[in-house]
Amino acid sequence: MTETMQDTTEELSVEQQRRAAMLTKLDELHAEQAKAIEGGGEKYVTRHRERGKLTARERIELLVDEGSAFLELMPLAGWGSDFKVGASLVTGIGVVEGVECLIVANDPTVKGGALNPWSLKKSFRAGEIAEKNFLPLINLTESGGADLPTQKEIFIPGGKGFRDLTRASARKQPTISVVFGNSTAGGAYVPGMSDYVIMVKEQAKVFLAGPPLVKMATGEVTDDESLGGAEMHSRISGSSDFLAVDEYDAIRLARRTVARLNWRKQGDSPTGDYLEPDRDPEELLDLIPTDLKEPFDPREAILRIVDGSGPGNEVAFDEFKPLYGSALCVGWARLHGRQIGILANARGVLMSEEAQKAAQFIQLANQKDTPLLFLHNTTGYMVGTEYEQGGIIKHGAMMINAVSNSRVPHLTVIMGASYGAGNYGMNGRAYDPRFLFTWPSAKSAVMGPQQLAGVLEIVARESAEKKGQPFNAEEFSGIKEMVEAMVEEQSLPYFLSGMVYDDGVIDPRDTRTVLGICLSVIDNQPIEGAMNFGVFRM
Ligand code: COA
Repeated sequence: MTETMQDTTEELSVEQQRRAAMLTKLDELHAEQAKAIEGGGEKYVTRHRERGKLTARERIELLVDEGSAFLELMPLAGWGSDFKVGASLVTGIGVVEGVECLIVANDPTVKGGALNPWSLKKSFRAGEIAEKNFLPLINLTESGGADLPTQKEIFIPGGKGFRDLTRASARKQPTISVVFGNSTAGGAYVPGMSDYVIMVKEQAKVFLAGPPLVKMATGEVTDDESLGGAEMHSRISGSSDFLAVDEYDAIRLARRTVARLNWRKQGDSPTGDYLEPDRDPEELLDLIPTDLKEPFDPREAILRIVDGSGPGNEVAFDEFKPLYGSALCVGWARLHGRQIGILANARGVLMSEEAQKAAQFIQLANQKDTPLLFLHNTTGYMVGTEYEQGGIIKHGAMMINAVSNSRVPHLTVIMGASYGAGNYGMNGRAYDPRFLFTWPSAKSAVMGPQQLAGVLEIVARESAEKKGQPFNAEEFSGIKEMVEAMVEEQSLPYFLSGMVYDDGVIDPRDTRTVLGICLSVIDNQPIEGAMNFGVFRM
């Protein structure tokens, strides 16, 4: 019997109820992740294997150092769309010859690896992560290029991908392309723009136009190998630097290429051991209320994520300004030995005191070049006459100013609610956190579904009154219900992850490891906090 299948008649403690709800959500998450893992489905995967080829995930597994972690990013991209979950790409951060690299692999079992609008969003975000964190980029290429039925959405913006490859190179951020199969038209510019190119013999086909199109365009009759085969590019055109005898050899050559990059992390990596958390991360599953309206103490989450107390780290979490603006808890901790500042919502709403405290704390983190972690569970800034008169707008703006102009790396985890401008002030996606992950319990929208539907009703009622028309409350209740259900669905993590509004939905128990990898990646560059912020309205 699994934990989720417990006898429901049994009396469960609050913690057990929360755990059961979280485990159910995790089961759902695993089911969605499984869709990404199955790629194009059994038929296409079998065909791919019959051709003697490795899958995208197997290629990655062989590429990264044995026993090292691969932090997969955005696996649910495209969820809820007409395209396969994962958007025909597998991407993430892996360690190759001791170097953290951003890896992007086409999944050729999904529509021949063709890139659809979600693939484009995912690959752009992967490129951005590589750029911001200064990571070498490895493309495992095998793609039919643009998804032709949606070409209008990808052809023009898609040019950015090639532009960014060469800009990465100009920044001394190496780019490597390993071509395992077809790489046609625009796709040919992935190897074309990369610093190092490896092509697999009798598999790679890199040309601007395949034989049928060449025949149509010029009348020339030719074949794949003469036009764009690995041998031709390695011996004649010079578009390939290495001819690999097979896929394994290609991966070996890619690893050798990384080993010769002379890569040195330029940040301040901590040395020595770190302490495991004071509290068991397993208990993170017992923490989140099934109804997000109920608050929970984020310190309970923090103590299960950060390094524990003990020699060298006397207290796990040094809270700052604990008696002021207590709906926001801020303070200093270490994670895998790296010092971080944490801002976590302790009660849903943010008031003037919390906003000012956040602005001060963010400035302090910048003064000492320390990364920040934002833990969301907020319903937004407080509304109402008293708070408007108290300057909630200018204080919220102060916090948003600090978040926007802060130059230390930010990490964001949406644990619970993330509504309204609270999403902005707490460093939501639009504020460029280096990484943003959500827990399966997260919900994010402009406001809660009931509130949104209620606002719509008031607006509709007033509009009818102004026009002198009757307002049919009964008829509107159907619309309200529909809107509520729609907003509820659109607030859920899979929906938001599908839209590439996060870098992945994670198991709360993995938070420490995931953030540890992110902080290590951040160490590729020195951290320099901001000296200047915009004008703070006092
Ligand atoms: N856009 C949309 N769908 C594509 C596609 C593309 N660029 N390339 C392939 N597909 C689809 C196929 O229609 C097929 O769909 P189906 O199984 O539902 O019928 C599926 O992907 C698999 O294609 P298939 O040709 O059977 O796979 P393959 O592994 O034998 O060959 C390619 C893959 C990429 C070599 C081949 O499909 C191809 O040449 N595609 C066109 C490439 C091209 O000219 N792109 C120009 C982009 S600018």
